[in-house]
Amino acid sequence: MRATLLEPQTQPRAAAVNPRRYHEAAAAELSPIAAADPVCLYLETTNRCNLKCTTCPRTYADLEPEADMPWELFTRIVDQLPNIARVVLHGVGEPMLVKDLGARVRYLKDRGAYVLFNTNGTALTLRKGRELAGAGLDELRVSLDAADAPTFKTVRGTDDFQRILRNVAAFTEMQRREGLARPRVSLWLTGLKETIAQLPDFVRIAHEVGVAEVYLQRLVFCAETPFGLAQPDQALFARLTGEEAQHLAAAEAEAARLGISFNASGATEPGESLERKDETSPWSLCRRPWTVMYITANGRALPCCIAPFSQQGYGNYTLGDASQQDLREIWNSAAYQDFRAALQSATPPKCCAGCGLRWSL
Ligand SMILES: C[S@@+](CC[C@H](N)C(=O)[O-])C[C@H]1O[C@@H](n2cnc3c(N)ncnc32)[C@H](O)[C@@H]1O
Ligand code: SF4
Ligand code: SF4
Repeated sequence: MRATLLEPQTQPRAAAVNPRRYHEAAAAELSPIAAADPVCLYLETTNRCNLKCTTCPRTYADLEPEADMPWELFTRIVDQLPNIARVVLHGVGEPMLVKDLGARVRYLKDRGAYVLFNTNGTALTLRKGRELAGAGLDELRVSLDAADAPTFKTVRGTDDFQRILRNVAAFTEMQRREGLARPRVSLWLTGLKETIAQLPDFVRIAHEVGVAEVYLQRLVFCAETPFGLAQPDQALFARLTGEEAQHLAAAEAEAARLGISFNASGATEPGESLERKDETSPWSLCRRPWTVMYITANGRALPCCIAPFSQQGYGNYTLGDASQQDLREIWNSAAYQDFRAALQSATPPKCCAGCGLRWSL
């Protein structure tokens, strides 16, 4: 029999959660019923985008009707989880295209959440950057993916490489001039066979534009329906050659020399993030359905930010509709309970089958 809904939490959880290692907040005992509220929300502030990156599902599929998340839906969601520890303001789309993004950051900061998003950096004007810093944004993650303009064009599809670097440099320069410690700015590179050799240069570029953090992001792809550069033969996970390991080591050495922190997504160290751990049911290591909720711009509840990259069709892993249902009703709904149970089984939900096996969690 399925559980009844959880009572709203009265104890603030946010203070007890490290927002950068929120996945550790999952209960040790994983049951289909989540014992506690989520600690992290992904709110897709928009699904619009001005780029056509060759690794991104948005470039190749119509995922949902184009929309910015309405302000009323945004506040209604946030108000249901006033103690949320961490909120990510991107989904599949470019959050800096949203006009009132600063107001949304402020709304969350007034409630004590740790707030961040990834951006392609094209719209990072000084005015917009100042507004976000003033609103209290904690982290600004710039997805650059390349260390030179031709490679940038191959991966990100445009000639904006130098412009984005100028945007980032002007922003960090303004931060230094005005003594602004927040947001922490980082540069991100999606690991591809095509670009791994650029990592040491990528670290040097970060240094040149005043960025102190670099991250290697694992490529997510669907072996059955690959698209663009999101191809099995581009992946590094569990397939790192000796030469590629040397590029990684060179980047680590360069980062150490320049005083840059170099990490992988998921709060792991880059080399470790590319090693496979559990051979039997690796997806079962995932804790997101016990810690994270992801709501699209149209209100659709998805299990996580990885699922949209699996190209399995939103209909196959939609867990509710936040424009019609309360979050806690969705969180322990029959659909969510079935999803959690399947994730702990030998036959996971379709979108999870690649996790831990083709890319790491
Ligand atoms: C979908 S984007 C949305 C935010 C923003 N538009 C951006 O590009 O940063 C979120 C992150 O996914 C990354 N990404 C794109 N394609 C990917 C893939 N196939 N595997 C893993 N990450 C990917 C992007 O580089 C970005 O850091
Ligand atoms: S990765 Fe980001 S910038 Fe690139 S197409 Fe996808 S949403 Fe747009
Ligand atoms: S798609 Fe991957 S990250 Fe998302 S819930 Fe499934 S196993 Fe976890």
